[in-house]
Amino acid sequence: MELKKLKIGRTELSGNLLLAPMADVTNLAFRLLCRRYGADFTYTEMISADALLNESRKSFIKGLSTQEDRPFGVQLVGNCPEKLIKAALFIEEEYRPEVIDVNMGCPSRCITGAGCGSALLNSPEIVYTIVSELTDALKTPVTAKIRLLGREEKTLEIARLVEKAGASALTVHGRTAAQMYSGSSNLSGIKAVKDELSIPVIANGDVKDEESVEKTLELTGCDGLMIGRAAMGNPFVFRRIRHYLETGEKLEAEEQSRRLEDFDTYISLLEEHGLLSSINLRMHAHWFTKGLRGSRQIREKINGLEDGRAVTELIRSFCQEIY
Ligand SMILES: Cc1cc2nc3c(=O)[nH]c(=O)nc-3n(C[C@H](O)[C@H](O)[C@H](O)COP(=O)(O)O)c2cc1C
Repeated sequence: MELKKLKIGRTELSGNLLLAPMADVTNLAFRLLCRRYGADFTYTEMISADALLNESRKSFIKGLSTQEDRPFGVQLVGNCPEKLIKAALFIEEEYRPEVIDVNMGCPSRCITGAGCGSALLNSPEIVYTIVSELTDALKTPVTAKIRLLGREEKTLEIARLVEKAGASALTVHGRTAAQMYSGSSNLSGIKAVKDELSIPVIANGDVKDEESVEKTLELTGCDGLMIGRAAMGNPFVFRRIRHYLETGEKLEAEEQSRRLEDFDTYISLLEEHGLLSSINLRMHAHWFTKGLRGSRQIREKINGLEDGRAVTELIRSFCQEIY
């Protein structure tokens, strides 16, 4: 095993570990924290092209990114090529991300009901039109993120069209939309896509520790690894995995104090970037304390608190007790 350098579009990354786009999770502060721990590339939460165009654009994506948040990709969700292009041009102008990604994998009803996310995979011609028109209109490289389809041939047809349309990379989550998050990620399905394409293919699904990293890289042969849920409340996962790929050894780390310390740093980053009031801090606190000694008591206390400030104070007092 080794840490390979992935190139997406014009950007050569320092490795091949990517943070997955996750709604309500991968805000700027969280991305910065994952980056400190060794994420080579991060994606924003999905941004609806329709919402961006309907609302006051500047305020809708205010504080989306900063200069330290590089390299990064902005993920858009939508199904109308013209609207996606307008939204993407606006983002390109405002933030100059390294990549603009199109969400073609979200299985949630409110997204697929509007013909977006994984619903796009049922219409190969729309997939092709969206990617080719975006690549024509933008200076920024375009990538796409898909799930597997029920039949391999269908997945490969979509993958080939994404490549033919000019995408710079493709991420594949090894589950079908119908599976949502059940079962496990189908690595041979991802491998079939990797074998079919010449552009970089990024494997996604269930990468969480040294064993799953090894298995995913070996069985798919992919160019990069995208990590989602394992980073929620635990951005340190990037350091562990990076260390393993660089040295072949597991990194032993004290969980309890580090996780609380990370949450404290996360709160500081949220404060610094004016994001504290826009996230569900209680939910993030739950993720950061999951599995820790005394986590039930911490959570019970958090649940009884009224506002974000009280949650931050509580976590900070736990941190002080531990240091
Ligand atoms: C809370 C949550 C929010 C997500 N939001 C998005 C999103 O905005 N865009 C997207 O393409 N995928 C989204 N996903 C899917 C992840 O990017 C990823 O494909 C999936 O979690 C599988 O990877 P994992 O096993 O490493 O978590 C989300 C997943 C979770 C758990």
